[in-house]
Amino acid sequence: MTTDLTIVAGDEIWDALGAAASGVLGARRDSDGTVCVLGPDIALGPEEYVLRKEDGVTVVRAGSAAGAFRALTRIRRGDHPADVYRDAPAHPWRGLMLDVARWFVPVEELIVLIDQLAARRLNVLHLHLTDDQGWRIPIPGWSRLTEIGAWRDGTTTRGAPIEGAPDPRADDDWGHGHRHDGVRHGGHYTRADLERVVAYAAERFVTVVPEIDLPGHMQAAIAAYPQLGVGAPDLPVATRFGLGPNLLAPTTEVERFIGDVLDEVCDIFPGTHVHVGGDEPRLETWRQDPVSIARAAELGLPDTDALRRWFVDIAASRLRGRGRTALYWYDGEVLSEEAIAVSWLADDGGVAAARRGAQVITADHTRTYLNYFARDDDTNPFACGIVLDEARAARFRAVPEMTDDELAGAFLGGQAQLWTEYAPHREARESLLFPRLDLIAEALWNGGSHP
Ligand code: ACM
Repeated sequence: MTTDLTIVAGDEIWDALGAAASGVLGARRDSDGTVCVLGPDIALGPEEYVLRKEDGVTVVRAGSAAGAFRALTRIRRGDHPADVYRDAPAHPWRGLMLDVARWFVPVEELIVLIDQLAARRLNVLHLHLTDDQGWRIPIPGWSRLTEIGAWRDGTTTRGAPIEGAPDPRADDDWGHGHRHDGVRHGGHYTRADLERVVAYAAERFVTVVPEIDLPGHMQAAIAAYPQLGVGAPDLPVATRFGLGPNLLAPTTEVERFIGDVLDEVCDIFPGTHVHVGGDEPRLETWRQDPVSIARAAELGLPDTDALRRWFVDIAASRLRGRGRTALYWYDGEVLSEEAIAVSWLADDGGVAAARRGAQVITADHTRTYLNYFARDDDTNPFACGIVLDEARAARFRAVPEMTDDELAGAFLGGQAQLWTEYAPHREARESLLFPRLDLIAEALWNGGSHP
């Protein structure tokens, strides 16, 4: 039997829906006549709803509070395709990744961003919490990660190039050779901050997916604890961008470190997915290190290159023990049989991962990296890379164009990315996010055919 519950719409809807999530519904009607009927056992998908306008009253039926929330988001936009319609997202995973490692993003900005995501019916905020340029999450027993790893002595900036440095638009330097400002900056969240962000997001049906990027992109952690890195190098937190040679050492102490970090991550973030990076390790570093060569042999690996998979596997297996599924950046190599591939390859890049049995989230860099220039003549000082214009963003499809229709089910959805190399503050970040995020969010909700 269906239990119909009427909940308030209009200005108080957000509170009411928060209450809906915890099962304490009121029975009120909005002044504009909108009535939301929530029947937990209606045969509708997790975010699906049916909307009907009748005699000046808008009635929404949804099978879950998330469905009702999505309907009311659309009502708020005044966007009604018909008097009666059924609406559901094309993809369950509709996200934005935000890089809070290269620049610390204050909690208040994350709170605003969560509202911006919810308004666009996005349901994942993936936080890239660690990288060479910063470590943002406190880990008990490893206090130097935030004491040392959360601060860097300046950054490269765009603007007038350093004399003799390559033009970032003319080659693959990507602006890394530009000026260095020498201004110390950084910051980190407290556990309470992160719990607040998670709770605020959950009330808006957005899941926060944390990322700890390993075994490369670890210079901030190695600056804090040199013994974590191959050769125990004495390094600062990185002040430039681009790929460094530093990698985690394949030692038992590093295994303990990864376990401690992921346990704390699982304690703070209740979502079912945790991203463990896996991207761009400089394999040369392990190849030349006698300790890594010996450990790879002891582990029975064919060579040190296989340590990349080994690191992702130990992280994925730790997460499995905590009931979570790992995600990793897919750039052509399936790094774990049990983890989900987030493919940042262009075009149909993720199809090969799907053919090999992986579940895939599409993050095609040529259509979703919002730090890229928005036009050929873009003078935005906070952008870098190649050109991703609005038309291209609008053509983003989570299921890449491909002939094998039976593989479509392997694609869970997609996400936009905001890497923050040259985006030090909110205004900069918003200048990159919008309007291209609107177009990607629309494509994720509607699916769409291939143009
Ligand atoms: C990436 O752009 N390295 C995921």
